[in-house]
Amino acid sequence: MAHAAELIAGDIGRYLYRHGTRPQRFIICGNAGDGKRTLIGRLLRGSALISDDPLAAVDADADADAAVILVDARHGVSTQTRRHSLLLALIGVRHVVLAVNKMDLVDHAQGSFEAIVADCRAFAARIGIAEVTPIPVSALHGDNIAEPMERMPWYRGPTLMTWLETLRVGETRAETRAALGARQQPLRLPVQGVDRPDLEGRGCSGSIASGTVRPGERVRVLPSGREATVSRVVVAGGDRPQAVAGEAVTLEFEEAIDIAPGDLICDPRAPAEVADQFNATIVWMHEEPLLPGRRYLMKIGATSVLAQVTQIRHQINVDTLEHLAARHLDRSAIGECNLSLDRAVPFDAYRDNPDTGGFILIDRISNATVAAGMINFALRRAHNIHRQHVDVDKAARAGIKRQRPCVVWFTGLSGSGKSTVSNLVESRLHALGHHTYLLDGDNVRHGLNKDLGFTDADRVENIRRVVEVAKLMVDAGLIVMTAFISPFRAERRMARALLAEGEFIEVFMDTPLDVAEQRDPKGLYRKARRGELKNFTGIDSPYEAPEAADVRIDTATTSAEQAADSIVQMLIERGVLDAPGA
Ligand code: ADX
Repeated sequence: MAHAAELIAGDIGRYLYRHGTRPQRFIICGNAGDGKRTLIGRLLRGSALISDDPLAAVDADADADAAVILVDARHGVSTQTRRHSLLLALIGVRHVVLAVNKMDLVDHAQGSFEAIVADCRAFAARIGIAEVTPIPVSALHGDNIAEPMERMPWYRGPTLMTWLETLRVGETRAETRAALGARQQPLRLPVQGVDRPDLEGRGCSGSIASGTVRPGERVRVLPSGREATVSRVVVAGGDRPQAVAGEAVTLEFEEAIDIAPGDLICDPRAPAEVADQFNATIVWMHEEPLLPGRRYLMKIGATSVLAQVTQIRHQINVDTLEHLAARHLDRSAIGECNLSLDRAVPFDAYRDNPDTGGFILIDRISNATVAAGMINFALRRAHNIHRQHVDVDKAARAGIKRQRPCVVWFTGLSGSGKSTVSNLVESRLHALGHHTYLLDGDNVRHGLNKDLGFTDADRVENIRRVVEVAKLMVDAGLIVMTAFISPFRAERRMARALLAEGEFIEVFMDTPLDVAEQRDPKGLYRKARRGELKNFTGIDSPYEAPEAADVRIDTATTSAEQAADSIVQMLIERGVLDAPGA
C-alpha cells in the first residue's frame, strides 16, 4: 500500500537509516530551498543513510513511523510545512522532528528557533500530532546532525542522528507492525493467491496485515461472509502454531470454501465492514484536478475496483484548517469526499487499520497514481439502499418494441453537426416505426442540467447524468441518440462501460476546428475569440478526439443526409432494428 506522503513528488522522501544492523524507516519533508538535499548529503556522509533513493531503499509496503520536517530558520513555518504536517498526521506518523535549518544564517539565535518551535507546536496540537522534537541544525556545516553544535550552548537536546538512533526500531516488517500494535488487532489477511494446486479450494496465501492466526481457529472470508476452520498455518514451507502481522502465510482449511484473490480473511468476532460507499479523506497528487463523477481505479487491500467521487464535502485549507467548499481538488489539495464503488469491498477505517483502510486512486487512461486516500467511515446509505427487483425487464420492454435498445453517442466540436445528424437519424428511425429518444446538449442543459456550466468539472457531471438517463432509457427499450460535445475520453469510456456489450455506439463527428469555426451556427466561436465566452471547446477548453470510434463521419466531405443514411445502415447491419430473437 503506497502512502500519501510517498506520492508528493520531490517534497517528501522515504529513507532507511541503519543503526547497527537494524534499519529504521523514516520520512523527510521539506522544500529544496530549505536545505533538504544538503541534509541528505550530510546523513549519507555520516553513512547513516543506506540510500537516498526512497524506492531502492524501502520496500514499498513498509510503514514509516518517524518523520523529519525541515524548516528554513529565516522563513519559519510555511504553508508547505503545514501541508506536510497534516499529511503526517493523516497517515498516522507518530514521531516527528522539527529540524530548524540554516541556524548559521540567523546568528544561531535562540529567539528565532523558539518562535518557530512555538508556531509549529501550536499547529501540530491542532492536527493531533502530540509530540514534536525540535532540533536547531545547520546542514551546511553539519551542526547538530552528527556532532553537537558548539555555537548554540543554549540547546541541550539530541542531534538528528542520536534522535534517529533512540527511536524504537523494527528489524523486520513483522516487528515494526507488531511494535505498532498490529499483533493485538483483529486478524486481517488480504488474499493474494488461491491457485496452489495442492490446496484444491481449501486454502489461500497472503501477508497478514494485522492480528494473528492459529490452526483450529475459525475465520470469515469477506465480502462473501463464508466461514471456515484453519487446519494448517504454513510460513516459508514449514508448519507453525501461529503466524503474526507482517508474515507471508499459506492457510489451509478443513473444508473447501469459495475464496478468490482480493478477498479479505478476518476474525469472525471482529470482522471488517463491507460497503460500496464511503466517506474518505483524499490527498490529490496529480496535475489534472480531481473531478467528481469521473471513474478511477481504486486499489484497496489486495483488490481493485472502479470508484468515483460522488461529492467533495469540503477541501481543507492547510493554513487555517478551515473547511472550504470545492468543486474540484487541485494538485496537493486535501479534501473530505464521498466515494461510490462499482461493487462492495471489505475495509476498516484507516485510523483502525491503515492496511485495510488506506487506498490509492489510479487514472485508467494514463495509469498514473492520482491520489491517496484514507477511509473514515461507510455511508449509511450503502447499507440501506437495495436494488428492487422488477418483473418486466429490458428484454421484455424491447421485445414489444421489436428492436434492440442502444445508445448512439454523437461526439464532436460545437458546430460539427451532432444535433443536425442525430435529428435526421431519429426522424428516419421514427418513420421506420421505431421507438427512439434524442437527448441533445442544448435541451438537457435547459432542464435536468440547468445548474451546470462549462468548467471541466461541470462537463464531467453533465455527461455523468446524461449517461445515467440514457441507461434508464435503454432499460426502457428505446434507441437513444445523444448529442453532446462530451469532450473527455474518460467520460465516453465510462458510458461504454456502464452499458452492456454492443449497446454503446460512438459516432465521431470529425470536423477540423477551422471548419467548425467558419460555420459558427450560433455565433459562439466569434464570441469566444473576442474573449466574451470563457472555456469554449476548441478555443480555451480541450477536446479529446475518440481513438477508436465505432463510426467516424468526415463532415467536411459528407453531407448531413449522407451521414444519417450511413448511420441508419450501420444500425441495420448491427441488428439494432431487428426484433430480438428474430
Ligand atoms: S459538454 O462539453 O458538456 O458535452 P454540451 O454538449 O452539453 O457540452 O453543450 C454544448 C453546447 O453548449 C454547445 O453546442 C454550445 O451551443 C453551448 N455552449 C455554451 N457555452 C459553451 C462553451 N463554453 N463551450 C462549449 N459549448 C458551449
